[in-house]
Amino acid sequence: MIHFYLNGQYKQLTDLNPNTTVLEYLRLHERQTDTKEGCGSGDCGACTVMAQRLPTIDADVSDAPFYTLNSCITLLSLMDGHHLMTAAFIADNPEHHPDRALLHPAQQAMVDCHGSQCGFCTPGFVMTLASTYENHRQQVAKGTITDDLSYDDIVAAIGGNLCRCTGYRPIIDAGLAMSEIGRQRDADQTIAKDLTISLATDAMANSRQAVSSEISTITPALTQASRKLFIPQSIAELNQVLAAHPKATIWAGGTDLGLSVTQHLIDHETIVQLSAIDELKSWSLQDLSQNADAQSKGTNDVESEADSSTVPSLVLGAGMSYKQMLPVLEQYFPNFANLFERIASPQIRNMGTIGGNVANASPIGDLPPILLALDAHIHIRHCTAVDISDIDDADNTNNNDVHSNQASCIDEIIPLSEFFLDYKKTKLRAGSYVVSLHIPLMQDHQHLYIHKISKRYEDDISACLLAARLDLSADGTTIQNAKFGLGGMAAIPLLAAKCQQALIGQSVEVANFEQAAQMLSSDVSPMTDVRASREYRMHVMQRLIIKCGKQLVADVQAVDA
Ligand SMILES: Cc1cc2nc3c(=O)[nH]c(=O)nc-3n(C[C@H](O)[C@H](O)[C@H](O)COP(=O)(O)OP(=O)(O)OC[C@H]3O[C@@H](n4cnc5c(N)ncnc54)[C@H](O)[C@@H]3O)c2cc1C
Ligand code: FES
Ligand code: FES
Repeated sequence: MIHFYLNGQYKQLTDLNPNTTVLEYLRLHERQTDTKEGCGSGDCGACTVMAQRLPTIDADVSDAPFYTLNSCITLLSLMDGHHLMTAAFIADNPEHHPDRALLHPAQQAMVDCHGSQCGFCTPGFVMTLASTYENHRQQVAKGTITDDLSYDDIVAAIGGNLCRCTGYRPIIDAGLAMSEIGRQRDADQTIAKDLTISLATDAMANSRQAVSSEISTITPALTQASRKLFIPQSIAELNQVLAAHPKATIWAGGTDLGLSVTQHLIDHETIVQLSAIDELKSWSLQDLSQNADAQSKGTNDVESEADSSTVPSLVLGAGMSYKQMLPVLEQYFPNFANLFERIASPQIRNMGTIGGNVANASPIGDLPPILLALDAHIHIRHCTAVDISDIDDADNTNNNDVHSNQASCIDEIIPLSEFFLDYKKTKLRAGSYVVSLHIPLMQDHQHLYIHKISKRYEDDISACLLAARLDLSADGTTIQNAKFGLGGMAAIPLLAAKCQQALIGQSVEVANFEQAAQMLSSDVSPMTDVRASREYRMHVMQRLIIKCGKQLVADVQAVDA
């Protein structure tokens, strides 16, 4: 069973096609049509809705942040344990304002600033702005920030929403006007709608708690005909489910997989959703040998190809979303974190995970080239059933339950460069999953430069991406090691071995980067597609290598000065 609140109303569902998206559920099942469909692929933001994680059993009210998502590509099952909100809900307030609904400050600001013409994009913009407003208000109340929302804050917030007729200036004006509307209402003591669910006062609270405590056996959360969706609550449960259903589709944020449903009309038969496994969303600092030991608990075997390097690694759980990773990367890899504003949109970054980005093995995924340049390792686990006599994934339609103690798991921690085998082919096999990514921390003598080339600045997939890690000698004059991670240049993300070799032992001079860039055609032979021609890719990537050289020279001179 999945359980959630929709616009303040408690819902629980068991009999539902697991491939049902939030948008399909809203418009076709609930007949709530305030949320619009534009592109159906996560690109336009017309379908943006807002969610908040429900309070835990020992708290009455959630203090979790609000977040937005593209309802067109998000499975409804990902709303399990959440309050899902749409534009109609945040306006409606009949209890305190029976004559006329009090608009949410985001909505009132859109009216006041003329932020809507045809109105098709408006519910999406409103939900983006409302989420920005509510989170800002939450932080002001906590005292963690005092400043008003800035122009840059609003521009960053609406990066995933497109408007074809109003123009963005009035919408940005509306974003900047929201806080003042809220302040004025506070001063007038106008009762604003409380968007949070209070379990203490909610009539359905007991029912919800009863459901929560029920989730201990691993039965499908949703079933319809032969289709089923599992939501394991822990790593141990995940191991068991995958051992029993090795051919299941592993579903993380669904920002890639959602398109398989909406664009390719795939009806996934068995889905294993990772969203409830907190262990996959955590991070730590460890050395590689510790990682192998610590993370193999509960598994039968570990094969680690980790070297004996003593440099500690940042270990990021595969289920961490971009949003969850950002503060961690800001602390340990600020140059890496800077790229995040160029990856997709806030809606996608709220849902998409590092595990999904790497496992997807797209040649134009943004994280793999960076992780390759940083010598990252990947922790993968292969699960098999110990006794498959009573569970056969191929023809098991009656026995949906997964019994305990059936998983036998083998763990591997391997260099990421060995993970990608061919176009969209990796070392993952049926019953395997990515546990975490291990990134050695950077040392003082190492420099990282990342350049993404795409047609739009925000919310666009790379035509190509270069991540360069350059290691210098102690006196800063010689290049001891060079790593160039390439995206969009071949069927898989890969390192430019010959360019790298050409730089090792060379002095820190731009001319050496110019020579190294000439080797690129020996490393890769890019293709022409809708994003860029083969010639463009080759030319741009060579210029980027030289640009990294210029940046390195400038950085070394800045240290010497
Ligand atoms: C509008 C839009 C813009 C985008 N922009 C960018 C961009 O700028 N840069 C970019 O790199 N990507 C972009 N993407 C692609 C996508 O958002 C990312 O690749 C994202 O990181 C995928 O993560 P996910 O959790 O949503 O993966 P999912 O869609 O859940 O899964 C993707 C694949 O990985 C597998 N998988 C997921 N987790 C695991 C695991 N732990 N173990 C094994 N297999 C797993 C799934 O089975 C599936 O095959 C964009 C997508 C959209 C829709
Ligand atoms: S309809 Fe365009 S992002 Fe969902
Ligand atoms: S108001 Fe028409 S698309 Fe934005």
